Amino acid sequence: MLTAEQFSAKARALKVVIGVCGSVSAVAVPHLAMWLKASLEITNVDIIVTAAARELIGLPILEASIDGRVVTDWRTSADDRVTHVTIAERADLVVVLPATANFLAKAAHGIADDILTTTILAVTCPVVIVPVMNEAMWKNKAVQRNVATLRDDGYDVVPPKAGLSLATGRWELGSMGDFRPIVVAALTKALSAPGTTLTE
Ligand SMILES: Cc1cc2nc3c(=O)[nH]c(=O)nc-3n(C[C@H](O)[C@H](O)[C@H](O)COP(=O)(O)O)c2cc1C
Repeated sequence: MLTAEQFSAKARALKVVIGVCGSVSAVAVPHLAMWLKASLEITNVDIIVTAAARELIGLPILEASIDGRVVTDWRTSADDRVTHVTIAERADLVVVLPATANFLAKAAHGIADDILTTTILAVTCPVVIVPVMNEAMWKNKAVQRNVATLRDDGYDVVPPKAGLSLATGRWELGSMGDFRPIVVAALTKALSAPGTTLTE
């Protein structure tokens, strides 16, 4: 068991990728990125944004919240290599937050039709998926089937919490809740993953 100081010292070296899908909860991502930087001193952060997420949150605020890259498609590579491969090779942890029902379906079936789903297939590090949707969607059989498949495949799918749904106006299951314990648990998992090297 690491002390808080030991955890911080090790977590600081992790290279984290945040995948952002098209949910209203995408607005939490700049807060998450700034919390990683200010509270945990994690600065090796890249953000991958889906096309639907781009409709809901502006890229400038995401770019301002991290030192790394905000990636929207295969053509955003800084070098002459393929973006999803360069991101995947350096990642120690991918957190998909928020994850939509659409993302769950694509990832469960190995579909790679955008930069986020392609990167998910290319990584070998832990992937933590944080679904956000209204309760009816979360309880839908197809969604639950996809969650079961993802868990069978080794992905960590965080169960949603009860909260106020902006979609229905009701207090119901499907919210992300406080992202901090979710991310601390994800970082802890990454620190004990076999492939984590913690090199700059
Ligand atoms: C304002 C708004 C909020 C949305 N919130 C959610 C959500 O919380 N969860 C969800 O699964 N889909 C939500 N959607 C629908 C997704 O954006 C849609 O299914 C999209 O295809 C997801 O694409 P992506 O998975 O590539 O980001 C929302 C759509 C809009 C316009």
